Amino acid sequence: MIEAVIFDLDGVLVTTDVLHFKAWKALAEELGITNFTKADNARQRGVSRMASLEVVLEKSDKVYTDEEKLAFAEKKNTNYVKSLDTLSENDVLAGVEKFIAFLKENGIKTAIGSASKNAPLILEKTGLVGKFDAISSGLDTTKSKPDPEVFLVAAKKLGKDPSVCLVVEDSDAGIEAAKAGGMYALAVGEAKNNPLADYCADSLDTFDYKNCKLFN
Ligand code: BG6
Ligand code: MG
Repeated sequence: MIEAVIFDLDGVLVTTDVLHFKAWKALAEELGITNFTKADNARQRGVSRMASLEVVLEKSDKVYTDEEKLAFAEKKNTNYVKSLDTLSENDVLAGVEKFIAFLKENGIKTAIGSASKNAPLILEKTGLVGKFDAISSGLDTTKSKPDPEVFLVAAKKLGKDPSVCLVVEDSDAGIEAAKAGGMYALAVGEAKNNPLADYCADSLDTFDYKNCKLFN
């Protein structure tokens, strides 16, 4: 029986994954990279801002200094945060509210485990902020997924052992991180075919949690 569920944020609870892609694509184009694709973006899922930038720069033959890289990441972030202006409750993905309500009814703790330093802003804008017992984000960690740090911090904040935690993720890096941390992993969306995951679903909307033995 599971005692806590740790949710990734971008692409699991909210549609912000699409906004990340748009902002990285805009930066890539500014840097003369015209072939930045959704497949490239899939490798940015779950990983930190600077690690995501490296995925973009792999497509360039130019060499940039650390200062230039920081400026590029800052530029992308400014653009991305601007695109969050209109973010609201309507951008919460289908099935999320119902699943959280089910967990609460069953006494299961909930936390956020997101690489994003913008997690507090996103939770605020989407009205999700008060719904979790703990928040672990890019502001609490130094290591990027697939390192399990962000999930271990979440489990610690909840006072739960990793072995009783389930992580919900849409990224391969996040599924790897959950397993490295000794947790169960539910893969949704882009990560749904990940062979490391214990459970898979198209989304939280179609995940049959009522019949899942983790909750029974
Ligand atoms: C993750 C996203 O949730 O957060 C990554 O999947 C992103 O694509 C990472 O790079 C860091 O986000 P931010 O908001 O701190 O730039
Ligand atoms: Mg994600």
